[in-house]
Amino acid sequence: MKIDVHFTPLGLGAGDLAGRGVVVVDALRATTTIITALANGAKAVIPAATSEEAVRLASNLEKDGVLLAGERRSVRIEGFALGNSPREMVPAAVAGKTIVLATTNGTPALVAAQGGEPVLVGAPVNFKALVERARAVLLEPRDLVIICAGREKQFAIEDAYTAGRVIKAVKKGLRKLVLNDAGRAALALTDELTSWTEALEGSEAAHQLGDVDLEEDVAFAARPDRFGVVPTYADRRIT
Ligand code: MLT
Repeated sequence: MKIDVHFTPLGLGAGDLAGRGVVVVDALRATTTIITALANGAKAVIPAATSEEAVRLASNLEKDGVLLAGERRSVRIEGFALGNSPREMVPAAVAGKTIVLATTNGTPALVAAQGGEPVLVGAPVNFKALVERARAVLLEPRDLVIICAGREKQFAIEDAYTAGRVIKAVKKGLRKLVLNDAGRAALALTDELTSWTEALEGSEAAHQLGDVDLEEDVAFAARPDRFGVVPTYADRRIT
């Protein structure tokens, strides 16, 4: 039984995910936003690697039922209906809609996770439910890969901490769990930081959000177990 953590999707090679379960984490903010949108009634979220790809994907869908969403440097992309704030994903805005989402780190990480089976979307906001699903994957038995979106191709502490918390929770009662070096480091972080709030609020991503007056998104993302849904990504759609 093995869990590999990748602190960014960069090192993933073709075939690394075949036959393995995957968890993708971008706590600030893409996976938090996706979970919130689906919990609030969105039909599906389609992740795009770039804003141009999002526009292309949206143009192939029924105009009425689709919303373009996404950010660059945390700010809504011009011409898009929504940004990447979980607080925008209220039922009145998203119920019944397919959202095509392009973000700097999170949606490219999801696109890179294609090939895993299943690909689970995780964040503190669905932590308890995520841990149950991840543990079930391990018990199949199937190896698990946790892909942290990171930040601009670098390590992001909030994602690594989330990966560590997942490992800590799923390993309870398992006799033999092998971790890669990144997995061991992620687990060690859970001794260093004492809460979701400490891990998320102290991050560089949180500071960037604060710079554009989006600090409330950090508080939103740091409250665990708001939702019991664990979205899965398959055939280019998250549902
Ligand atoms: C991302 O996917 O890059 C992030 O969620 C960034 C953000 O929305 O601030």
